[in-house]
Amino acid sequence: MTSTLPIRLPLDGNTASGSRSSQLPQFEGSAHAKAILFGEHAVVYGAPAIAVPIHELAAEARVDSAAEGVRIESELFSGDASAAPARLQPVVTAIHAALAYCGKSDESVRVQILSAIPHSRGLGSSAAVAAAIARGITNWAGVQLTTAGLYDIVQQAERVAHGNPSGLDARAVTSDGAIRFDFGAVSPVRIGAPLSFVLADSGIAGSTAEAVGAVRMRREQNPEGMETLLSRLASIAEGAIDDLALGDHEAIGARMRDAHEVLHAIGVSSDALDALVAAAHDAGAIGAKLTGGGLGGCIIALAHSAEHAEQLGCALREAGATRTWTATVPVA
Ligand code: MEV
Repeated sequence: MTSTLPIRLPLDGNTASGSRSSQLPQFEGSAHAKAILFGEHAVVYGAPAIAVPIHELAAEARVDSAAEGVRIESELFSGDASAAPARLQPVVTAIHAALAYCGKSDESVRVQILSAIPHSRGLGSSAAVAAAIARGITNWAGVQLTTAGLYDIVQQAERVAHGNPSGLDARAVTSDGAIRFDFGAVSPVRIGAPLSFVLADSGIAGSTAEAVGAVRMRREQNPEGMETLLSRLASIAEGAIDDLALGDHEAIGARMRDAHEVLHAIGVSSDALDALVAAAHDAGAIGAKLTGGGLGGCIIALAHSAEHAEQLGCALREAGATRTWTATVPVA
C-alpha cells in the first residue's frame, strides 16, 4: 500500500448540510486521527503527554432523520443500533450520548460512518469516530456543541472502548494543533520548525485496554521499578516541550529513541514494533518509537523533510509495514 491517503475530509467540526444519498437533509461531523509523540501509558498515572493531530487521516459521520429507531451504516455493520456487534458498542454509546446531549434521546436517526483511520492501531480511531458522531448529531439537531460537551461524549464512548481512558485521545482528535495533556488539562505546544513524520502499521491489532491493563499489573507487581520507568517517560515528555518549541529535530529524535526503549522496558512493545523502529533508524529516521497503546499498532518516525518521510515510508514497507502514512505538523 502506498503512503497516499484514501480520503481527506473537512475537519472543521460541524460542517455543511445538504442532501447526498437520501432525500432528507444530511448533516456532517468529522474528526482527525492523532499520534502520541511522548508520554503514552505514563499519562494514565498523571504524567504529561504530547500528541499531534494527523489531519491526513479522518473519520466522518453523516446524520439524517430515520423512520424508526437508531440506524447505523458502516463498513463493519449496517442495521439497527440494538443489533450492533460488540466492536461497535463505543459507536452506539456515542450516538446515544450525543442524542441525550441534544435532548433528543427518543428521536430516530440514521448515522453513516466513514473512516479512513484504521482501528486498533493507536491512531485514535475510536475517539475520532465518537467525536465525528457528536459533531454530526449536534449539527443535525441544531444544538451548539461545547468543548466540554464534546469531551464528555467522546469519553463516554472511550470508556466502553478502553475501560479507563486518560482523556488524551479525546482531546488530541479534537485539537487542531499539537497539545500537551496534563491530567485533564490541555495546552497548545509551540512547534518551532515543521515536523515530517511517517506512521507505519505493524499489521497487528493492538488493544489499548489490554496494554493499559498489562502496565497496571506490572506496576502492582514491581512498584519501584515501574515508577522509575514511568518517571523517565514523564521527564522525556517534559523535556520535549522546549525541543519542539526550538525546532530542535535532533533532540526530539533522541527523545523518541529513549521513549521507545522505556516503552519496550515497560512491556508494551513487540518484536514487530521493535523491528520497524530499527528499520526506520537504519533508513535514516531522526528518531522512531511506537505510538499509542502498543502491543501491535503503529510506530511513528521523524524524518528530515516531507520527501524524506516518503522515502522512509518505502523503506518501512520493504521492512514489513503493512501500510504507511506521511503527516506534517506545521510551525505553530
Ligand atoms: C492510548 O492512545 C494512550 C494510552 O496512554 C492510554 C490512555 O491515555 O488512556 C496508552
